[in-house]
Amino acid sequence: MALTKPELTDLYRRRAPRYDLSANLYYLLGFREWAYRKKAIRALRLEPGDTVVEIGCGTGLNFGLLREAVGPEGRVVGVDMTTAMLEEARERVDREAWDNVELVESDAADYDFPAGIGGVISTFALTLVPEYDDVIRRGAEALRRGGRWVVADLKLPEGWARHLLPLLLPLFRPFGVTADLADRHPWESLERHLSGFGMEEHYFGYTYVAWGQAQGPG
Ligand SMILES: C[S@@+](CC[C@H](N)C(=O)[O-])C[C@H]1O[C@@H](n2cnc3c(N)ncnc32)[C@H](O)[C@@H]1O
Repeated sequence: MALTKPELTDLYRRRAPRYDLSANLYYLLGFREWAYRKKAIRALRLEPGDTVVEIGCGTGLNFGLLREAVGPEGRVVGVDMTTAMLEEARERVDREAWDNVELVESDAADYDFPAGIGGVISTFALTLVPEYDDVIRRGAEALRRGGRWVVADLKLPEGWARHLLPLLLPLFRPFGVTADLADRHPWESLERHLSGFGMEEHYFGYTYVAWGQAQGPG
């Protein structure tokens, strides 16, 4: 059964102090977390001066690359519902003296996207949000013309690789991943609410980077 929101915030409160280290440990399994992050951020095709919103930003591991993409005139907004994860993000932002990064404590389901933004990204977080379809729809409506929504996350692959699930699931369980999350398909929401849909799969099809582009007048 998927964890409830209070269960998820409790889990991430406990994980927060060691989150960055434990996320990197997945390299030992060949899970190239940073390669997927970089692909996702490149797929945003941000322009200097853009505002980019990150949903479920956690400790802010993507902020450095996002800042590079939007430049000193741009803005990065990190949204997360777990206070302890945002405290880690705040430490990173203060340590690096990043003055164009804003942190917002909010459930993604309640977050009001600013209008005219250049991109929205979520890495390894959106599948945890039961209202992901509505979050993608509202984020899509807030994008400027040509702005992109990009999701990198876990999914269940087709074919033989499914047999690896009993081995892999216990390894991702500490981050709130349960088997029933396989029924949540954020990439289909990107395809539904945006144009120019694209998707690439990695790690035997257990992870993906997917994107859609706004064509509206925004
Ligand atoms: C696995 S971490 C990913 C953090 C970051 N995106 C990264 O790539 O390192 C998942 C994050 O999603 C956040 N999260 C889960 N459900 C959420 C929700 N409904 N609204 C906002 N944040 C949520 C958790 O608090 C946690 O920080």
